[in-house]
Amino acid sequence: MISRREFLKKSGLLATALAIPTPASNVIAPGTEDELHEVVPRPSLNPSSLAPFVDPLPIPEVAQPNGYRADPLHPSERIPYYRIELSEIQVKVHRDLRPTRLWGYGATSPGPTIEARKGSPIIVEWVNALPKAHLFAIDHHIHGAEADKPHVRAVVHLHGARVRPDSDGYPEDWYVPGKSRLAYYPNVQDAAMLWYHDHALGITRLNIYAGLFGAYFIRDSAESALNLPSGKYEIPLILCDRRFDSQAQLYYPTSPMFHAPWRPEFYGNTILANGKLLPYLAVEARKYRFRVVNVSNSRFLTLSLSNNQRFHQIGSDQGLLRAPVLVTTVILAPAERADLVIDFLEHPGTHIVLSDPSGPIIQFQVDASAAAKSAALPATLRRIKPLPPSSAVRTRTLTLDQYSDPSGRVMRMLLNGMHWNMPISERPVIGSVEIWRFVNLTPDPHPIHLHLVRFQILDRREFDVDAYKKSKALHFTGPPMRPDLNESGWKDTVRCPPKTVTRIIARFEGFTGRYVWHCHVLEHEDNEMMRPFEVIR
Ligand code: C2O
Ligand code: CU
Ligand code: CU
Repeated sequence: MISRREFLKKSGLLATALAIPTPASNVIAPGTEDELHEVVPRPSLNPSSLAPFVDPLPIPEVAQPNGYRADPLHPSERIPYYRIELSEIQVKVHRDLRPTRLWGYGATSPGPTIEARKGSPIIVEWVNALPKAHLFAIDHHIHGAEADKPHVRAVVHLHGARVRPDSDGYPEDWYVPGKSRLAYYPNVQDAAMLWYHDHALGITRLNIYAGLFGAYFIRDSAESALNLPSGKYEIPLILCDRRFDSQAQLYYPTSPMFHAPWRPEFYGNTILANGKLLPYLAVEARKYRFRVVNVSNSRFLTLSLSNNQRFHQIGSDQGLLRAPVLVTTVILAPAERADLVIDFLEHPGTHIVLSDPSGPIIQFQVDASAAAKSAALPATLRRIKPLPPSSAVRTRTLTLDQYSDPSGRVMRMLLNGMHWNMPISERPVIGSVEIWRFVNLTPDPHPIHLHLVRFQILDRREFDVDAYKKSKALHFTGPPMRPDLNESGWKDTVRCPPKTVTRIIARFEGFTGRYVWHCHVLEHEDNEMMRPFEVIR
């Protein structure tokens, strides 16, 4: 069996996505499944005991404005105003299960899909209407989650959005039930699938696990002109792994140490697609566009189809790629997005399952009647100019670190050896281009995300970790590897394999002020693989 680490390392370094075989093994890392050591073991739900593919895939409803308000930047103009309440909800995640208690935006998890147009700003009032007690155990050893902090706190971040700092959801800007915050989203960026989710300091993993996430689409005319599958042929797929107990309630395992329940990763044993377990989707024998986001806490997904059919990836985190890329599998680390076009034309009357090595996700039931042939994909999707490394005014070398206690138990992760509350050390100048190279000293891959900016991946290169730890000198042990074709567009989250230096290049444009960058494995982010950065004048 090939381990998750090795697998991800290899796949991250492969030159083309085409060549990646679907691994037969499970991607769960050894040592993460020690439920036997639970303080209070709970009988758990065995997902394979459930009847598969009996529920239709829910499509989150599109949010409707609650009114119009003056644009704070152009007071003569009125712009859509949305009011969205975070609340506790009861949801049937499967036909044969009793309702599960979740937290949602509005009455659902995922929350409503927000549809926005490039250049048309909106205002969202995010209202914390959650109960006073949390669904999960809080680890008070974790920074920002000390015993004097309220258990239930929330703050919304729009992942991938270029917004002012006061609307970005700074992790310390959380607020308690009964309070609300206005966010201004200018939508001055290219068409892309963004997603909104909770970002409260020290408990993000628990709040997102409870169900606090939703999709946000920015559309623009360049994308509309491409005539891609749209309307009922464009489907958001919001995926996350979960565990349930025998009462169909969410179960988030804790460490064997009663007072320090944090665990370094979470892996579920089943996957929710738009909030359902093992749903189906009835499709016509034609092209569909799937907008996929991995909102799992820790799991890297490797998606493929049961008939081994090839499909196209046309976009990633920050919108369209240069050209469609033909793939048989797609890897998505937590927070990464994939824009996929699957053509069911050749498969009328069949059932095709989309799955991850950890299990099936959704079944496509292709209608038996032949459908009208859908338009061919354009050969070119968009122009993306490479940011030349020579345009960078600065290169920052930033380590990804993991610390264990004497018994080998992982205690925390840091970025560049620094804690969250240490002084800001990354201060890019507005409008300037920088290269950030992530030197991964840990045995695991980390999906690193920067707020505010979009970036390009330059390359990945293996190096000698021990030599670096001794002398802080980088000794490369292999040649630089270009990113896969399907990660060669604009990104906001990058997989950083172990023993590898991953280089990205970004222009720090948009706004000045304080933002964050962090690992998007939520257990890592919470403890304390997250740092502020400040864009300065
Ligand atoms: Cu998905 Cu700091 O964000
Ligand atoms: Cu983000
Ligand atoms: Cu990490």
